[in-house]
Amino acid sequence: MKQVVADAAIREVKSDMILGLGSGSTAALMIKSLADEMRSGKLQNIKGVATSFQSEVLALELNIPLIDLASVSQIDLAIDGADEVDPGFQLIKGGGACHVREKLVASKADQLLIVVDETKLVQNLNLSFPLPVEVLPNAWKQVQEVISEMKGSSTLRMATKKAGPVVTDQGNLILDVLFDDGINNPKDIEMKINNIPGVLENGLFVDLTDKVLVGKIENNTPVV
Ligand code: 5RP
Repeated sequence: MKQVVADAAIREVKSDMILGLGSGSTAALMIKSLADEMRSGKLQNIKGVATSFQSEVLALELNIPLIDLASVSQIDLAIDGADEVDPGFQLIKGGGACHVREKLVASKADQLLIVVDETKLVQNLNLSFPLPVEVLPNAWKQVQEVISEMKGSSTLRMATKKAGPVVTDQGNLILDVLFDDGINNPKDIEMKINNIPGVLENGLFVDLTDKVLVGKIENNTPVV
């Protein structure tokens, strides 16, 4: 499902575009399909803007030219995965702890195309997938207290018990937050969480998505 949706996303790409390269396993398949099309000459003069160290390394390995986010004034199209998508195209992202740069790239893009398999579609956000919140390392306890006043329970994301916490590309930590009734008002929650001192960014992507491509299985065959 992820492969068909990744290939379908690349059909939306045109030569000479500046492309936001998302993060995660679906985005990685999309980056590989992009490299194939560039190698065959079907797509020319593409430049990528990476949303994570992970997508940067992959693009470099595949010879996709990269430009830094700070040096572009506009991105034509950003293609990225998501952890949850609601019927209004509001998203939870950050399962891979990359949502800070992903949101920066999405905000600078003329269009945001989301690629998911059907397991990511939900009626209500945050009933099962926790909302990732990136926090400054020495602020995580304090942020956790404020979130619990907002009736959210949060856990510090750990790599493994031995390795300690997950550290983001920016050197920060991740709190994974579940609200008792899920998130019914994403815009409000996005702003309230980002307003807590010590929070860098949360994984709610509100009113940013233009199109969602969904991979599913029909008659034992993956389709979009
Ligand atoms: C990383 C992300 C990913 O796009 C999201 O977690 C989806 O990943 P996958 O395609 O592997 O399911 O937001 O921060």
